[in-house]
Formats: sequence, C-alpha cells, structure tokens
Amino acid sequence: MPKVAIYPGSFDPVTNGHIDIVERGLKLFDKLIVSILYNPSKDYLFTLEERVEMLKDSMKKMKNIEIDSFDGLLVDYAASRKAQAILRGLRAMSDFEYEFQMALMNRRLNREVQTVFLMTGLRWIFTSSSIIKEAVQFGGNIEGMVPPLAQKKLMEKFGIAPGPGQSGKN
Ligand code: PNS
Repeated sequence: MPKVAIYPGSFDPVTNGHIDIVERGLKLFDKLIVSILYNPSKDYLFTLEERVEMLKDSMKKMKNIEIDSFDGLLVDYAASRKAQAILRGLRAMSDFEYEFQMALMNRRLNREVQTVFLMTGLRWIFTSSSIIKEAVQFGGNIEGMVPPLAQKKLMEKFGIAPGPGQSGKN
C-alpha cells in the first residue's frame, strides 16, 4: 500500500519553510497531499483560491504531490483520503505545546492516523506566514523567505512597489 501523508495548514501564504518540509516529506512518503484548511470563521489575508494558486505554483516541479483543501476535522479528512499520516513541521520550542496538543487530540480521535514531525531546517526556524505578512506590510524585504508568486502577491496585497533587491522574482 502506498504511504500517503497529509501536510495540512493555513498556508496564508506558503513560505520557503513549508517547501523545505514538503521536499523532505517526499523522501519519507510515496505521496504528499498538501491540504489547505478552509475555515470560513477565520480571517485570512488570501482567499482559498489564491492560497491554492500560490501552492500549486511553488510545487509545480515536484512529483507525487497533490494540492487540496479541507474543512472539518483533519483526521476525518485524512481517513477519507486514505492517508496513514499527518506531516507537520516543528520550528522553535514555541511550536511544541500547540503541536503536541493537536497531535494528541488527533490521536484520540483516530488512532490509525500517525502524526509525523520534521524539524524545520535551521534557515527557516524563524520563518512564519504571520511574521512575513507583518514585515511586508511595513515595506520589509522578504526576498528568499517565500516562493516568487507568494512574494509578488504579498507585495500587491499591501501595495508595495518592488524596491532594490526586491524584484518579486527571486
Ligand atoms: O498552518 P496552521 O494554521 O498551523 O494549521 C493548523 C491546522 C490546519 C493543521 C489545524 O488548525 C487543523 O487541523 N484544523 C482542522 C480542525 C482539526 O482537526 N483540529 C485538530 C483537532 S481538534
């Protein structure tokens, strides 16, 4: 049976830290389903369609990847997709409590689905979608932290014109 994992998240937007986890996850699993949570009660910067577009663009050269979205319980979605595992990235210790709580709850809800954590590469330890959104809205240069389409769309969203070293084409 092929080993399939769900890599779930908000991806608002995708960062290079996410890409790092996907690339390494593909070495462990036969297929990864990168799936965007659709939660209508949460405020996102990007629409679901925009988040799908940025993910698809950033992973267009990768094999054994599917981009999807889900709502409701993650473990129910994983079972419906016949995935045996949930893949999550861990950055600093600050991620640990939330991730531990979520993994234990998911395990209680469905013992057949295993959560697998990968430590984020050192380069991405402080990279998060939220901190990137904060930096870019005040004109900070986020080149190299997000894939090119995400950089372009972030700059457009906040009305930032490309400056030196901030081409939107990294
Ligand atoms: O990128 P994020 O925002 O850290 O991802 C969080 C996500 C989508 C993995 C989490 O919020 C989630 O799985 N939500 C779906 C509801 C669910 O199953 N929650 C966990 C058990 S209650």
